[in-house]
This record gives sequence, C-alpha cells and structure tokens, in this order.
Amino acid sequence: MQHPRRLRHTHAMRRLVRETRLHPAQLILPVFVREGLTAPRDIPGLTGVKQYDLGSLPGVVNDALALGIGGVMLFGVPETRDATGSGSCAVDGILTRAVAIAAQTSGGNLVVMADVCLDEFTDHGHCGVLDAHGNVDNDETLAHYQKMATVLADAGVDVVGLSGMMDGQVAAVRRALDESGHINTAILAYAAKYASVMYGPFRNAVESTLTGDRRTYQQDPANRREARREVALDVTEGADIILVKPALTYLDVLTDTAASTDVPVGAYLVSGEHVMVEAGAAQGAFDREAAILETLTGLARAGAQLILTYWALEVALWLKDPS
Ligand code: PBG
Repeated sequence: MQHPRRLRHTHAMRRLVRETRLHPAQLILPVFVREGLTAPRDIPGLTGVKQYDLGSLPGVVNDALALGIGGVMLFGVPETRDATGSGSCAVDGILTRAVAIAAQTSGGNLVVMADVCLDEFTDHGHCGVLDAHGNVDNDETLAHYQKMATVLADAGVDVVGLSGMMDGQVAAVRRALDESGHINTAILAYAAKYASVMYGPFRNAVESTLTGDRRTYQQDPANRREARREVALDVTEGADIILVKPALTYLDVLTDTAASTDVPVGAYLVSGEHVMVEAGAAQGAFDREAAILETLTGLARAGAQLILTYWALEVALWLKDPS
C-alpha cells in the first residue's frame, strides 16, 4: 500500500519535502509617497498601509534593507492634477523625488521600482490622456510614458513598472530608455492586468479621481487565453519581468504565464485582496499570520517568482524565524 502520509508524519519531514518556500528576497513592498505631507498617515480602507512623506521614506527603505526584501515599488500621490498628468514627468515631481531618495538610501542594495502610469497624475483619473471624444488615446499616452520612464531613470530608478495597459507600451518605453542611455533600466510589465473590483482601496490610497472604469484598456476578468496574447506581446517587446494582477482569482493566468515565458513572473496581491484577508482575520475567521503565509505560498506555488504585497516587511520578519 502507498503511504503518502509518511512524508507528513513529523514537522521535520514536512519541512524537508516542502516544494515551495517563501523568501524575503522575492517580496516587493508597494510604497505610497504623498506630496505635501509632513508625516506618514493611514490610508482609509487599506488596513495597515500608510502614505509616506518624503522625509519618512528613507526609514521605510532602511527597514526594507534590514529585512532583506527584494525591492520597493513607489507610487507618487501629487497635490495637484491636470488633464495630461504633467506632474508625472516633472523633475521635481513627487514620484521623481521619491525615486531619487529611495535610490540614494538603497545604495544599490535593493531594487527600486516606480509605477509608470498617469492615473495618479491626471484630473480625470485615467491611466492615459484623453482624445477629443473622451477616450483614452493609446499612442498619445505612449509618448507620456516614454518621458515619464526617462525622467525616473534619470532619477535613479532600477525598474519601471508599466501598469497602464496601453498597447505597445513596453516597446515604446524600451526604445526611449535605450535612446536616453538607460540600457540597464529594466521593465516590469503588467502584462495581464484585469479590470478588477479589487483595486478599490488602492484608489483611496492614491486619492483617485476616476469616475467610471478602465474596461477599455484593462482586461476582461472572464478571459484566460487573451492573457497569453498580452504576455507574448510584452515579452516580444522587451519586458524583463512579467506581472499578473490581481492574484488570487487569477491563479490560472499566473500558472499559464509561468509556463509560457522564460522571463521572471510576478503576482500583485492587490489592495482588495489584502483587505479580504485582513477582514477575515479581524472577524476571527482564521489566524492572520497563517492566512497571510498560506495566501503568499499559494501564489508562489502557482508560479509567482516575485510577489508584490503590502505585507512584505511583516512577512520578511516572520521568515527570519520560520516555523
Ligand atoms: C494603476 C494601478 C492600479 C494598481 C496599481 N497600479 C490599479 C488601478 O487603479 O487600475 C492597483 C493596486 C492595488 O489595488 O493594490 N496605476
């Protein structure tokens, strides 16, 4: 008789044969940096996550360094917005300044990433600029992403995160980076990003002004095969790392992506998913730490080599002393 239980009999045996292990180096912490603040403040609805001011940013980066996580992903929240999101490309803009501070603090010992997208900077809240009919203008937007990526690379960013879901964005940004001499600035492409309800708390975090939705550019949650097309396009265009987002209800897409590409693949455990677990734990439905570790382990098992999570620092602390 076969006895699979033999390998589960003791903790030591289970630990020996474990197939998936989380490590701090694979975790990326999203960090919101808000213009005009003088101290960190809580984000309504996004449990345990804060907006930071520029003065407190080095502290977060130092914590990340001390805990050995893989990187930080910076999001800028400006005080004022306009139709073209011009703050995104400003040399003294909030995100540009945050990148410079994070790069200096990290000293190259952790990967500094920044979001390249216009939604935090436009007064209409869309990820691109609008045409005369109010539609998001794909090609016009690409020119803005090129400029934004170049400015952030000048400020010292290691990786640009292209989250806007415009067609051709990877090729356009790669070209702009290469032409401006930034051949070592990597592109993390949100290749398969779905028009999900799970971004709700994030939109509070960046004080989004969006009315309506992003269904003309983000993917339909019903589509699995389409993600393969998006991923293949981004890899062909030069993506260095591919991201799937959200994570928990897209594990099939994550597994497909890991199988169909040979670049590193990551998953973003987004704000709504974070809050689901926090809310369940707060209600006593399950143990919080165990739920978080099971959630992230599930992502890794499904194919995520890298994980963006608001719990990155806390989990890294737990992993120092693994059970
Ligand atoms: C867009 C962007 C979004 C998130 C990260 N970058 C979402 C959106 O509004 O479409 C969501 C992240 C989260 O929910 O945690 N720049």
